[in-house]
Amino acid sequence: MTVRFNLNGQPRAIEPAPGESLLDALRERCGVTSIKDGCQPQGQCGCCLALIDGRALVTCAIEATRAEGREVLTLEGLSSRERDVVSTAFAAAGGVQCGFCIPGIALRAKHLLDRRESPSRDEIARAIDGHLCRCTGYAQILEAVELMAKAWRGGAMPEPAGDGGVGKPLARYGGREQALGLRPYVADMQREGLLHGALVLSAHARARVVRIDTSKAKSQAGVRAVVTAADVPGERWYGLLSDDWPGFVAEGEEVRCAGDVLAAVAADDVRTARAAAALVEVEYEPRPPVLDPEAALAPGAPRVNPTHPNLLSRSVIRRGDAAAALAASAHVVSGTWRTQRVEHLFLEPEAALAEPLPDGRLGLYTQGQGVFDDRRQVARFLRLPEERVRVELAPSGGAFGGKEDMSIQAQTALLARVTGRPVKLVLSREESVRMHPKRHPLRMDYTAGCDSGGRLTAVVARIVGDSGAYASVGGKVLERAAGHACGPYRVPAVDVEALAVYTNHPPGGAMRGFGVPQAAFAIEGCLDLLAKKAGLDGWEIRSRNGVGVGDAVTTGQVLEKSVGLRRTLDAVKDAYYVARTAGKAVGIACGLKNSGIGNGVVEWGRCRLVVERDGSVSLYNGYTEMGQGLLTVLVQFAVEVTGLPASLFHPKVDSTFALGCGQTTGSRATLFGGRAVTSAARKLRADLDSGSRLPDLAGRVYAADELVDDTTALGADVPKIKTHTSYGFATQVVILDGDGRVERVVAAHDVGRVVNPLLCRGQIEGSIHMGLGYALTEELPCEDGMPVTHSLRELGVLRARDMPATEVILVEEPEPEGPFGAKGVGEIGLVPTAAAVAGALDAYDGIRRTKLPMKDSPAARAMSVGRIRRPRGDWR
Ligand code: FES
Ligand code: FES
Repeated sequence: MTVRFNLNGQPRAIEPAPGESLLDALRERCGVTSIKDGCQPQGQCGCCLALIDGRALVTCAIEATRAEGREVLTLEGLSSRERDVVSTAFAAAGGVQCGFCIPGIALRAKHLLDRRESPSRDEIARAIDGHLCRCTGYAQILEAVELMAKAWRGGAMPEPAGDGGVGKPLARYGGREQALGLRPYVADMQREGLLHGALVLSAHARARVVRIDTSKAKSQAGVRAVVTAADVPGERWYGLLSDDWPGFVAEGEEVRCAGDVLAAVAADDVRTARAAAALVEVEYEPRPPVLDPEAALAPGAPRVNPTHPNLLSRSVIRRGDAAAALAASAHVVSGTWRTQRVEHLFLEPEAALAEPLPDGRLGLYTQGQGVFDDRRQVARFLRLPEERVRVELAPSGGAFGGKEDMSIQAQTALLARVTGRPVKLVLSREESVRMHPKRHPLRMDYTAGCDSGGRLTAVVARIVGDSGAYASVGGKVLERAAGHACGPYRVPAVDVEALAVYTNHPPGGAMRGFGVPQAAFAIEGCLDLLAKKAGLDGWEIRSRNGVGVGDAVTTGQVLEKSVGLRRTLDAVKDAYYVARTAGKAVGIACGLKNSGIGNGVVEWGRCRLVVERDGSVSLYNGYTEMGQGLLTVLVQFAVEVTGLPASLFHPKVDSTFALGCGQTTGSRATLFGGRAVTSAARKLRADLDSGSRLPDLAGRVYAADELVDDTTALGADVPKIKTHTSYGFATQVVILDGDGRVERVVAAHDVGRVVNPLLCRGQIEGSIHMGLGYALTEELPCEDGMPVTHSLRELGVLRARDMPATEVILVEEPEPEGPFGAKGVGEIGLVPTAAAVAGALDAYDGIRRTKLPMKDSPAARAMSVGRIRRPRGDWR
């Protein structure tokens, strides 16, 4: 059937497939890229918004045939001034991080501003309630819409952000284009002869695969290839730290979790590929899944992963005689704290594009957090030398740790090799939830003691983490939980053990905070309980125990520099006591977070500055951008050193140079990448100082490879323990209103040096948003090992109207090992949040909650999300 409508003022006629959504029709048949697929067909993220006959509607939930005779407007159809207002306002306010959600929100803002001249902040928040942003915490989005409002009817345009170096404003690199949907994510990329991929995922958390029959799928018109384990030419098993994860599960083997891949299809279009994938017949012999980590460790438990016993890792820290110290303590508290499995819910589901290149190499566009790790694993999978695979980082629509492991890169690359054509594979939201590793659920048994003055004497902690079916970085997450088990406090005697355990749940892996938010929830709970026994308030007990220069943290590392905890405590002191005096329920918690993986791992920062013939400078580095603003701050370091304008620098992340640094993880990219850029920029500066002009230097490459190899392994018997290069510190205060809702969060953070004030604030606000969801509403429960929901609202990520007022206070305690004093800020923002909320709730209703999310609380009930109504889907 032909559907005729006007798109952005132009007549269009399309022939959609039966049941095709308007979103798919606009993207695939009309080339509109400002509308994105974040959750089709749920209609819950707002990324696919269009104005249809003037009504703001999500296009993923509408059949394309309903466009007949209508006027459809997307961001592409705005006037050039309106587009200018949108892009300038979002760039000036810092309202763009990964950018995936922004075009939809910007169009919603236009819809609002066409009707309301000066909407209040509340009205704006309510207007964008149908939109989800996982990055920003919404505050800078609301500010961007306020800036838009001022300019909308011909008022002055927002001031563009500056062109500055370190500590000065600089608009996010590419932020203006992202706001308009002009920077292509993988799903937006097109190629001549492009094929589309689809996967067959396991129907069980644990079962033996008896038979995989692809014959029906192969016989479908438009299907170009169906591949299984038998088609993998190289090493089928891969992994970041352990090769325990098969790209395809073969006949005769066990599937181990909901995200296991049995087969992959390449076809002429997405619908054909997905329909063919549904025709792949898999015969299973179901087996009882191993779901309880304690049971998985019991003698005789079935082995989850054939490459390793069920105990994935054991991290131990012992200092002093904890048992004796507890026996001599004036006060002792004990308890079990439990945290939940959490879905990253980055707005852009995983996508990859692989293509044969004219020079015979395989090109791979990935949004992974470590493109060189992707290349290494894909090359082994295909049995190719690494130099035969060219990787390039595509703009990433958010990651938060969930894109460290391979997802679909290897399967996409194999389909491209087999067909000899470009292949693009994009996961649905449901597939995304099933495939990538989650935040670990931990059980934490703590006992802590203090003297009569409230000074900590000892901490004993036994931590068990559910790492799911594959190692990912689970062992390291538990190592990090152990290493942060005592929080930012002086504890003379420490006895900590943390176990990572294989089960048939979705894998546990990296997620913002990497085990530290879990440990913080437990140790901060202990502090609150001890404070009550010692007759102290929450601020005072933290003040008496907080670390300073010369004190040891959990691992035994004695801090020598850049310890801003005291200043963060002082920064929130008034807010804490004023609210208490006013009779409010108040909670407080502190946090520390490593910058740099450390623990004996050799790390690098690498950079190449290449002076191009057009007078620009390409800035290559080995770490990835995923919305956090890395590329922007790297430019700022280069600007600061060279004195050249920011507009001359063009950041690039690809395999042109051998710049592999591993994953962007551990809050280390600014620290180490910045050091490398600074070092390379100094070489360029030296040439400029010696009289060369930039055009004279065309073709020069300024290289810097910064080696960091001075950290020590956990438990190493060395004279001087240095488990991490640096630590960030924070104190947060959470204040409830009279109904027990979160009214305000005050967050003071020691960031070393503020490189970009707007981006730095945005990182912390976004983390607090994630921390509040972690505290109150977010979880991914499973039944028989399978996730019970992939609904965005049920998963519990907070909406704009759920967010309280947030005040961020930036403290600068320069880090001598960081570029211009900077250290990592990407993760610490949510480390103290859940514990501060728990403290506030205790002050409100006298209930000490030790299990996340705290859905039984008035603060959670006040949120608009997080109600899981019923288990969904029969996976068998
Ligand atoms: S893709 Fe339509 S609302 Fe999410
Ligand atoms: S900027 Fe909103 S989801 Fe990333």
